[in-house]
Amino acid sequence: MNCCFVSISNDQKAPPPYNCAFILNSALEAPFDSQKTKKDAFSSRLGFILSTAGSAIGLANIWKFPYIVGKFGGGAFIALYLIFLALIGIPAFISEVLIGKSTQKTPALAFQELSGTKSLFWKKTGTLTIWTGFLVSSFYSVIAGWILGYSFQAVMGRLSDIHDIPSAHTHYITLMGDPLWTTFFHALFMGMCLWFLLGGIKKGIEFCNKLFMPLFFLILFIIAGYALRLDTADSVLSFMTSLDFTSIPPQAVIIALGHAFFTLSVGQGTLVTYGSYLKPKEKMLSSSVYVIVADTLVSLLAAFCILSIVFSANMEMEFGPGLIFETLPTIFSKITFGSAFSVLFFSLVFIAALTSQVSALEPLISHLAQNSQLQRKKAVWIVTSASFLLGVPSALSMNVLSTYTFFNLSYLEVMNFITTSILIPLGGFAAVILVGWRWGIFKALKALHLHQRTLRAYFMITIKFTAPILIAFVFLHALGLI
Ligand code: PFF
Repeated sequence: MNCCFVSISNDQKAPPPYNCAFILNSALEAPFDSQKTKKDAFSSRLGFILSTAGSAIGLANIWKFPYIVGKFGGGAFIALYLIFLALIGIPAFISEVLIGKSTQKTPALAFQELSGTKSLFWKKTGTLTIWTGFLVSSFYSVIAGWILGYSFQAVMGRLSDIHDIPSAHTHYITLMGDPLWTTFFHALFMGMCLWFLLGGIKKGIEFCNKLFMPLFFLILFIIAGYALRLDTADSVLSFMTSLDFTSIPPQAVIIALGHAFFTLSVGQGTLVTYGSYLKPKEKMLSSSVYVIVADTLVSLLAAFCILSIVFSANMEMEFGPGLIFETLPTIFSKITFGSAFSVLFFSLVFIAALTSQVSALEPLISHLAQNSQLQRKKAVWIVTSASFLLGVPSALSMNVLSTYTFFNLSYLEVMNFITTSILIPLGGFAAVILVGWRWGIFKALKALHLHQRTLRAYFMITIKFTAPILIAFVFLHALGLI
């Protein structure tokens, strides 16, 4: 494949053959000490907190969490999720940020350096996490593109004619059935991410999150204010705090485990990369805790809002796309100021997706920019274009490619399965094994400046034992081995 979409200047001194495969390969095989000195990093702790929160808070919080809570028994499911967060999500999150911050390197070299040897195994493991984020970005953009398309529909008032589920369903099927519509919004969404990524870390990623995250919280609070005034608010609150564990099906246990991972952006190179943009002297533990708490509160608030709105309209909690593209537009078309709520809601989901997508693309970009001859801007163009192309079959999987399935799964569902069920758990597993066993938990605790006994015990037990064991469990389950 020729890099015809980027101009490569002569002063780069890269040896022939000059093509993308060469550039990617040479970057991934770059010698241990070849990383260029970094100039760009987050300007402050706040930049890290907002950007990492932007990564963590995504479609999984606003779309998936509410319907899994509604489906799997409310409060008992939430309690299960919080337990998994404590046992695997938090230790894996902290391990990854620590790997990045301690080495100040992108995942491949960071994993290798922390392993204490010039081990190719750990370098390749770190590289795998980078590719995982990249693969996620290819289909995440397609789904985010649907949201962007619906945001435009909401702004143009096209959703206000939808008064019942059958007409919402017809509208949804018509849009998804149009390959131009799905591909156009996939391209537009990717183009927006490209624009921010071209700005670099401070002026691109950090700027994007400083701009959008406050807006995100403002919109969420407006919607929460509305939901609180609904007469279903009390019953939803008691549903979300009831602890009836008998209503939880076994499948929910695996869903809660997997969700604790995906929602925190663990296992995809993102946290290691963002951690490496933290200055070495910056405190990372408290910043990470703020991010995890914000991510969890957003999930809970989103679940409260959506459950209250859906139940107040006497509607069923739909699973998957039905909730966001059929149930909610139907309800918004009937309530006072419904069109405004429709615009606000789709903007909220759009912002969540944008800041997450930027973070999923960044690991490969920074890897190429720091470990090869490539300038950052060119790396941004290459990575976003490649992610766009890889996502095109996902954009077509609801229309022209709908008959092509693999084990009854569409292309998009296959990509989702490979990343969320296999690669992400593997990446998270590698991070906790690296920190807890290979680098050594005592070095990690020292690097975290942890002196408090209970906290030391908590991190020691979770990073070394509970996280690896539970992740192995999710992984074996996904492969159908248990
Ligand atoms: N954490 C995001 C969410 O909750 O939707 C998803 C995500 C972010 C995936 C970053 C991949 C990634 F690199």
